[in-house]
Amino acid sequence: MEEENWTLAAQESELKDDRKAISLNGQNILLIRKDDEIFAVENRCIHMNCKFTRGELNGYNLKCPCHDWEFDIRSGEMTVASELKLAVYPAKIDSGTIYIEMGD
Ligand code: FES
Repeated sequence: MEEENWTLAAQESELKDDRKAISLNGQNILLIRKDDEIFAVENRCIHMNCKFTRGELNGYNLKCPCHDWEFDIRSGEMTVASELKLAVYPAKIDSGTIYIEMGD
């Protein structure tokens, strides 16, 4: 069984409008709190590298502000072409601290 490898990402109090863009292990990541859950997605669109920081969230679908491609923040899959994916990372909030599982 693989060991979990949680990395401290941010404090929940640092989120603004339920979001925070961070850089962790060389990756640009956007933290998004939705209801009581936290999600961590690659903050770089696979189309032309725009950041999602100000992208509109409809349900679980995050829209790229540049050309409106939409991705499910749970899976990273593009809504109209699931074979196209953003990287997503397991994330959790523990006592007000946000952690991400970055893998190896
Ligand atoms: S850069 Fe995201 S849709 Fe074009």
